[in-house]
Amino acid sequence: MKINIKELSNKYLNTEGAVVVFAFNVEDGYTFQKPALLFDEKTSGALSNAANSSEFKGKFGQIVELLAPNGVAASRIILIGLGEMDALNSLTSEQVGGKVINKLMYSGEKSITIVDGVIAAHAAFGIRLRSYKFDKYYTTEKNSKKSSIATVTFLTVGADVSNRAFSDLDKIADGVIMARDLVSEPGNILYPESYAEQIKELKNLGIEIEILNEDAMEELGMESILGVGQGSSSETLIVIMKWMGSKNKKLQPLALVGKGVTFDTGGISLKPVPGMGDMKFDMGGSAAVVGAMKAIAGRKAKANVIGIVGLVENMPSGTAQRPGDVVSSMSGQTIEVLNTDAEGRLVLADCLWYCQEKYNPKFMIDLATLTGAIMVALGQEYAGIFSNDDELCEQLIAAGKTVDEPVWRMPIGEAYDKQIDSDIADMKNIGGKYAGSITAAQFLQRFVNGVPWVHIDIAGTAWKQNTSSIAEKGATGYGVRLLDQLIRDNYED
Ligand code: BES
Ligand code: ZN
Ligand code: ZN
Repeated sequence: MKINIKELSNKYLNTEGAVVVFAFNVEDGYTFQKPALLFDEKTSGALSNAANSSEFKGKFGQIVELLAPNGVAASRIILIGLGEMDALNSLTSEQVGGKVINKLMYSGEKSITIVDGVIAAHAAFGIRLRSYKFDKYYTTEKNSKKSSIATVTFLTVGADVSNRAFSDLDKIADGVIMARDLVSEPGNILYPESYAEQIKELKNLGIEIEILNEDAMEELGMESILGVGQGSSSETLIVIMKWMGSKNKKLQPLALVGKGVTFDTGGISLKPVPGMGDMKFDMGGSAAVVGAMKAIAGRKAKANVIGIVGLVENMPSGTAQRPGDVVSSMSGQTIEVLNTDAEGRLVLADCLWYCQEKYNPKFMIDLATLTGAIMVALGQEYAGIFSNDDELCEQLIAAGKTVDEPVWRMPIGEAYDKQIDSDIADMKNIGGKYAGSITAAQFLQRFVNGVPWVHIDIAGTAWKQNTSSIAEKGATGYGVRLLDQLIRDNYED
């Protein structure tokens, strides 16, 4: 599908294919925007007749469809309500884009012309996000129903400004889509080695890639992450991505760290059968980091950013780690592994320590599908954030609002921290019965060595049960836009 943004002219009145026009909601009903008005005149009032007889009030998301209207070349006119005029913004424009493509994807139309009314760049972004579907494994015609739309053309005032805005958003969409693809892949296709191969392709964008294999990790004393992969026949890998986009190559980098458990069976502390298949998404944190790196490099962000992902499969086997095992870590701290299903923190522990020691970052943000408990607390709406840095939290909360990937700050502190003290080692990898997401964060904090840090628990937001106006149900790509926006707002030259 090709998306164009062109300067507005009256040519649209003779356009073929589907044409989209808009109306706002006002006190006593709707008010057409000029293109809608012109179409209404050309069709001898058919558009307003259709609006009036379908209780159209111009409310946000309301749709009226006029098929094969007389008097115009268009095969259909779609009238969309934008709600109240001053409520229109980049997010609502994205949603409108999503609604348009959702309405027309399988309509048989080949082209859509969207005439003014919304912020074109964001509506185009919404179209890219909403039209994504992970359908590569369908083989029958019924299942592999493909969108018929070949081109979408926006006609808008100031097309050059919109085109510039869209060229960045287009790159961000590439990142979101890569993250969704990675999260959607099943564990037999995406395992540490195949995952690392996919990440290597980011070299094309100017990202430097370095890979630590098990030998290298052993050398570094990373017993914590190695213990998680011990039962798997796949090799555990840490992949490091470097984007040095700042003019000042000596500027402290920003660090993004992701949990990449390509499948989480729970290990010897085996998970129950129902829902275990969902655990292919347990690399969602790493996918957000990879997607964000792709977005950042794609739009040539003027910032130095390091992405580090720990890729490992958590399997039960004769070589698997046992509950009760004690392992060391790169930091030298020892861990009593009382539950092999609390493996994400073991992966991140070595990644975080390595990151701060090797790169002296300005801050570290880790993302992980870390705990079921965060879904109990926040559902699928907010990701939980845990941090030792108020300013960074404020910046993330603001970025989350801008891109509608919201985060909610959770508490951490001494009283929670002592719940992970162990009788026989420096710490254990589980806390008590309560506050499971917080004790997990306390565990991570023991490996950040005082560096400004935020942990984002995305267990609830990485995968959605329901389709929204900008995403088909399934992998959301949550985190890509959030990280990109944080950097764009605060950390570029
Ligand atoms: N990957 C899971 C967390 C998870 C669970 C994400 C359900 C999404 C849905 C993680 O590795 C895990 O199993 N955590 C345990 C921790 C517990 C053993 C302390 C959990 O949340 O139950
Ligand atoms: Zn687990
Ligand atoms: Zn896990």
